[in-house]
Amino acid sequence: MLQNRRILLIISGGIAGYKSLELIRRLRERGAAVRCIMTAAAKQFITPLSVASLSEDKVYDDLWSLTDESEMGHIRLSREADLVVVAPASADLIARMSAGLADDLATTALLASDKPVLVAPAMNVVMWAHPATQANLALLEKRGVRRIGPGCGELACGETGSGRMAEPLEIVAAIERVLSGDPRLSGRRALVTSGPTREPIDPVRYISNHSSGKQGHAIAAALAALGADTVLVSGPTQELAPAGVQLVPVETAAQMLAACEAAFPVDIAVMAAAVADWRVESAPGHKLKKNGTPPVLRLAENPDILSRIAQRGNDRPSLVVGFAAETEDVVGNARRKLRRKHCDWILANDVSPGSGTFGGDCNTIHLVDAKGVEDWPLMTKEAVAARLAERIAASLAPQPARHP
Ligand code: PMT
Repeated sequence: MLQNRRILLIISGGIAGYKSLELIRRLRERGAAVRCIMTAAAKQFITPLSVASLSEDKVYDDLWSLTDESEMGHIRLSREADLVVVAPASADLIARMSAGLADDLATTALLASDKPVLVAPAMNVVMWAHPATQANLALLEKRGVRRIGPGCGELACGETGSGRMAEPLEIVAAIERVLSGDPRLSGRRALVTSGPTREPIDPVRYISNHSSGKQGHAIAAALAALGADTVLVSGPTQELAPAGVQLVPVETAAQMLAACEAAFPVDIAVMAAAVADWRVESAPGHKLKKNGTPPVLRLAENPDILSRIAQRGNDRPSLVVGFAAETEDVVGNARRKLRRKHCDWILANDVSPGSGTFGGDCNTIHLVDAKGVEDWPLMTKEAVAARLAERIAASLAPQPARHP
């Protein structure tokens, strides 16, 4: 679907620049034409020669180049593209974009562009968390700029946290999404929970479960693919943040509840996380020592996030979807959960040992609502997510007017 699409790639300064070279390759092998602008800082990290060789085009870097201006002009440069991608988008370039500056070729092309813009931020964790950066991004997003990432993990500066540029293939997927523009959930905001929670026993031990986050992450990706502005609140997993989704990493059920509440207002809530039902009532701040007598752990019940969301007042989401992880009487228990938790749909799945549901790639779903039960066949978790997203889009679509 990227065949003959024209991407203007703006590369700003950052160690993640090496991933932009890979991004160019991935876009070229999909048939896209890639034209590149490099900032002065970008050239400190990767060479214009590498960029030109991989893009098979000249590299633009000078606002005042007589030759470039007579051949192309910075206005044409930005208007001839189908999409402008900024990767890596440094904190500095994001700040200059939000201020509307036009003091080099990159910012001038961005200001002169009438095309969709996708940014892939990359920076140090503290720079990313800084209120100035967050405010600049919020302003850009309000103006319609799309964002992919950043992801979490070890950063080139040696620190750990959010700030890693999204992987090239994630950026490609986000580009495909922006260009395909399936609009059925655009203008809708979705909240998805995913993964397990971890409830500390002491600073080094915890209570948790086997959820991998595969199902929840796939659902967030599928909703985003239909245009929903999607927030994914996830416990610890190995899964990458889906492209175009805002990931909020959490550990405990209490943190998951707080992050979900902070995401409101939302139109759609899908609670796929395996939230630990109990936490240790008072986990000590120091490591428990062996002293011949095993400790007795007193448990307290965690808040039920799904129930709380389904019973909100004026800002209850239009559609609240829960899961039911069962080992026996799967549909019967799911029916009871639907009523007890006041949600609209329950996706029931069998998590008995041997089912492979926890951590596996496939799932068998029974969709339970007030009207009855729909049995889905065994599918990959991606296919479950796509089918659910389609069903959500259909249920939220404006109903045709009824004629008397
Ligand atoms: O992550 P994977 O390896 O891909 O596995 C997917 C899955 C099995 C985790 C997923 O498909 C699933 O079933 N998720 C729900 C797991 C669960 O905790 O089910 P439950 O029957 O205990 O809870 C019912 C519902 O209440 C769920 O929507 C759950 O998110 C929610 N809940 C439960 C407890 C709690 N304290 N707060 C909640 O919101």
